[in-house]
Amino acid sequence: GKVRAPTHIISTISDDRGEEPCYAGVPMSSIIEQGLGVGDVISLLWFKRSLPHYCTRFIEICIMLCADHGPCVSGAHNAIVTARAGKDLVSSLVSGLLTIGPRFGGAIDDAARYFKDACDRGLLPYEFVEGMKKKGIRVPGIGHRIKRGDNRDKRVEILQLFARTHFPSVKYMEYAVQVETYTLSKANNLVLNVDGAIGSLFLDLLVSSGMFSKPEIDEIVEIGYLNGLFVLARSIGLIGHTFDQKRMKQPLYRHPWEDVLYTK
Ligand code: ACO
Ligand code: LMR
Repeated sequence: GKVRAPTHIISTISDDRGEEPCYAGVPMSSIIEQGLGVGDVISLLWFKRSLPHYCTRFIEICIMLCADHGPCVSGAHNAIVTARAGKDLVSSLVSGLLTIGPRFGGAIDDAARYFKDACDRGLLPYEFVEGMKKKGIRVPGIGHRIKRGDNRDKRVEILQLFARTHFPSVKYMEYAVQVETYTLSKANNLVLNVDGAIGSLFLDLLVSSGMFSKPEIDEIVEIGYLNGLFVLARSIGLIGHTFDQKRMKQPLYRHPWEDVLYTK
């Protein structure tokens, strides 16, 4: 029989050995000929399958809405300061990306985990929120520095409208909205933020599209694929901020003394 030397790497998402590269078995020419988009490419390379159009459109909307949020947010600030220190594109980009985490942009996976667990266990929103408080954990996907109950995040509204129109079910999103109703009764800044909206809606996409088995959904949530959406999206803006600073030949940034409280 055939003797096969053991391989050092196993790869299951793409193959470049043939005439043309394939993403999850789909040749690149076919992706282009079918007029597919970046949402389809993400479906193939992340989820290893083609998804219905409303799902790939949803992925693309997430990417477009999270591409940038101005120069003042953590990631853009870091990228700007790094670019002004004379560093290259990749350094400026990763400097911005490194701020993505539990407080900024990287709460999507935890929002999905906690909303799924609480909703599946049938916890009432107040039981869930008060339980989190007892554990000393902030509810991921809730709260924003500038958005308020009377100044909602437009991105959240756009995602919710799209999902209500196109998804077979928005059970997890509705749960997140009930959680928001409760948290807003406690403080006006405790809105459902864009991380929470994407986290809950992606659960709805995974569950109601019928494209994923239960163990696959559990694995996606456990591994944490969803922060990848924000990382990918915000890279677009961070690259833009880097070019912007370089185009304007901005000098080294030094934070003003007046804005620091020097104290013993
Ligand atoms: N759950 C419960 N209580 C909260 C939450 C939350 N998610 N967020 C704020 N609070 C309450 C707490 O009582 C907090 O007091 P504490 O510091 O004693 O815990 C109080 O509100 C005031 O909190 P601040 O720190 O002033 O709120 P801030 O405006 O700094 O926080 C932040 C904003 C970081 C987004 C916060 O709401 C949070 O940690 N949320 C969870 C993580 C998250 O979803 N991040 C993604 C944001 S969207 C994005 O980055 C694209
Ligand atoms: C963002 O998308 O960067 C924001 O929601 C965070 C912020 O502080 O505005």
